[in-house]
Order: sequence, then structure tokens, then C-alpha cells
Amino acid sequence: MEAKTKSKHNHHNHTLVTDIDIEVKNIIQKELERQRSQIILIASENFTSQEVIRTMGSVLTNKYAEGYPKNRYYAGCEYMDEIEELARERAKKLFGCTYSNVQPHSGVQANTAIFVALLKPGDKILSMNLRDGGHLSHGHFQNISGKYFQIYTYGVDPRTEVIDYEDVRKIAMKVKPRLIITGASSYSRIIDFKKFREIADEVGAYLMADIAHIAGLIAGKCHPTSIGHAHFTTGTTHKTLRGPRGGLILSDSEYQEIIDRAVFPGTQGGPLMHVIAAKAVAFREAMKDSFIEYSKRIIENSQALCSYLKDEGFRIVSGGTDNHLFLIDLTNMNMTGKEAEEALSSVGIILNKNVIPFDKLNPNITSGIRIGTPAVTTQGMGKEEMYEIGSMISYTLKNRDNPTKLKEVGNRVRKLAEDFPVYTNFVN
Ligand SMILES: Cc1ncc(COP(=O)(O)O)c(C=O)c1O
Repeated sequence: MEAKTKSKHNHHNHTLVTDIDIEVKNIIQKELERQRSQIILIASENFTSQEVIRTMGSVLTNKYAEGYPKNRYYAGCEYMDEIEELARERAKKLFGCTYSNVQPHSGVQANTAIFVALLKPGDKILSMNLRDGGHLSHGHFQNISGKYFQIYTYGVDPRTEVIDYEDVRKIAMKVKPRLIITGASSYSRIIDFKKFREIADEVGAYLMADIAHIAGLIAGKCHPTSIGHAHFTTGTTHKTLRGPRGGLILSDSEYQEIIDRAVFPGTQGGPLMHVIAAKAVAFREAMKDSFIEYSKRIIENSQALCSYLKDEGFRIVSGGTDNHLFLIDLTNMNMTGKEAEEALSSVGIILNKNVIPFDKLNPNITSGIRIGTPAVTTQGMGKEEMYEIGSMISYTLKNRDNPTKLKEVGNRVRKLAEDFPVYTNFVN
């Protein structure tokens, strides 16, 4: 009898306590070291809390929970219901709305669900063009949005490089779209959701605000909200919001049924319950006063870095920034975005090349770079550090053919990263 129990126990151990996968673990360790030792200025990246990461690594990943709380396709979902309810309630409270869907696996999935909820193939969408800051899921020809719908675009004013709302209105009047999309991936100015709604109402269109980039700034009360203006708000939880990688839909309870159905079974299967739990953790974190402080500091840092680089002779698209990011036009520096990205990467400053309004170069080369401050602000950096980063960026770009000088900047980068450590004592 005793032997039998023992063997059962051994069997149990054998299946669940597997040996450590050194190959994978080592790569993760290298990535952790990379994140610790470089300066991350990618506007869509952040350092999420250890609590969020721990939650994502939980047993919730084992559970199938197709459907919604109290209406699931599988048994055993009572705790999944609790988690999803908690996440949904927290999302509603954080953003001040009456409906939320926390199941979209990513920002693109959230957008796709709205298309499926509202549109038929061939319907017209009016969205911001990609070159001026829009996202590929708003109508790129290779994305489902561009393949299944008729896409019309608006952009920025060539003189100010800011959205010209009167121009948007004129295009909307002419096109008469079923859906207008606002929200961007590389636009550094406040978006006036109220004006967009007025335009949508004038032409009888729905308005979708994709707040993927600025969700954290809205939660932190540092950007006017889309809630109450847009019929549908979509977003991501992993950028300024500083949660797990994932998507989110916010709306009014009158749209609950069509959105729920469009997410599941419309475009997704089983929800990632471990990620939904981590979203709940992030929403709680974002409700704290300290998150409002954090959001303010992201923008202060963005503006400090922006004005430093402006003084160094770099041309800033639209002349400045109101949010967590800004774009530099490198044309006057005789350099492409690709060259700048590579030079900066070689010293440990990580950002991305980016098309700028009216860019003559293709998206793989580009005339610009995009710089964002959510990650460095999470590390606790302030204005002084922004001036140091600005100085390192300027020095690198102006001396990009001088290996000795680049090496010197590399040391400064490592020193700064070491002074603001992330995930200390973190066991992955
Ligand atoms: C405006 C906008 N929408 C959607 C997305 C897509 O999010 P995801 O990569 O999670 O699908 C992004 C990401 O860059 C974005 O900038």
C-alpha cells in the first residue's frame, strides 16, 4: 500500500515538476540583462511591475474559459468568472465607462473586433494615414482592415504637422464613412476626441478611438479622455498603461452584446485568463495617485528631452510634444531613420526609425526616429537624466562614424542604466 502511494507521488512529480529548460532560461536571462543595461526609448514599451509578471506566470493559463462570466462553454470556470469580473469592473472604474471587454489578445485584435461588430465587407472607414501617425490596423492594405473595407484617410496639415479638424470634416462629408477612426502610433499632440465626435455625428458615422498609445496618460488624467465622445474605445494594456501585453475595449453598455459577440466567437477563441488577471493587477496599479504622478512625469520627461534635442539642432515634427513621444526629422542632418536607429542601437540606446509626415523614404528606411519616455520614467529618471540622454543621442548621431566616440557613449549609457536598475533581485 505504501509503495503504491509512493509511486503515485513520483509519477505526479514527474509530470508537473519538469526539469529547468536551461536553453530557454538562458535566453530569458540575456534579455533581462539587455533590458537592464540599455536605455529603452521605444514609445510603445514599458517595464511592467513584478506583480503583473508573476500573475501572467500563474496556473490560470491552464484553464479554458470560452464565453463570458456566467456563460461559459466549459465547466470549472467559477474562478475565471471572478477574475474576469474583477478585471472588467476595474477597467470600467479606471476609465469611467459602463462597458469593458478585457479579452482581446492584443490591440489589433480589439480593433478587428470593432470592425466585425459594426461593418460589412466593403463598408467605408475614414482613418489617419500611416505616414502621419496612424496604425496599420486602421487600414493598411496588407491588414484585414485594408483588405475587407474601403479605406479613406485624413492626415496632418503640411505646415503645422498637426491634425486639421476642418480638413477631417471636409473629407468625412465627402466620403460619408460608416466608421471614423482616431488614435495613432506616432502623433505627439493632444487628440480632440470631442471634435472627432462632432464630425462623426455630422456625417452619421460611428467613432472609434484607438488609445493604444495613450491609455496610461488617459488613466493618469494627463490626456483628455475618449470616453463619452467615442462610441468605441480600443487600446492596449502594455504601453503607457504599463500592464501585461494585451488589448482592451471600452464602450457603453448599450453595445455590450455586439462587442462581446465580435470578440468571442467573432474573432477569438479561449481568453488568456492569466493575462486577464494581470490586466486586473495593472488596472489597480493605475488607479493609484502615484500613477497620476507617473503619467505627469512621462510627459515632463518627453518635453524635456524634446526641447534639449531641439536646442541641439534637431527638427522636431510639429515643433514639440504634448504626450509621451515625439518624432525627429533627420533630413537636415543628412541621415536616414534607419542609420540613426542603428547608430543609437550600437551604443545601447534603443528606439525606432519612423516615417514622418510627407516622408519621401519608405517605411524600412524613413526620414525620422520616434522617441518615447514611458520606460525611462518607470525607471525613475527625471529631467536631468533626459538632458544626459539628449546629449548622448546628439553626440552619437553627430559622431556616428567615430568608433572611439561611440564607445565612450556606450559607457555613459551603461552607467546611466546602472544608476536606475529595474527588476533587481528578480528571479524569472
Ligand atoms: C494605435 C495603435 N493601435 C493598435 C496597436 C496594436 O497593438 P498590438 O501590437 O497589441 O496588436 C498599436 C501598437 O503599436 C498602436 O500603436
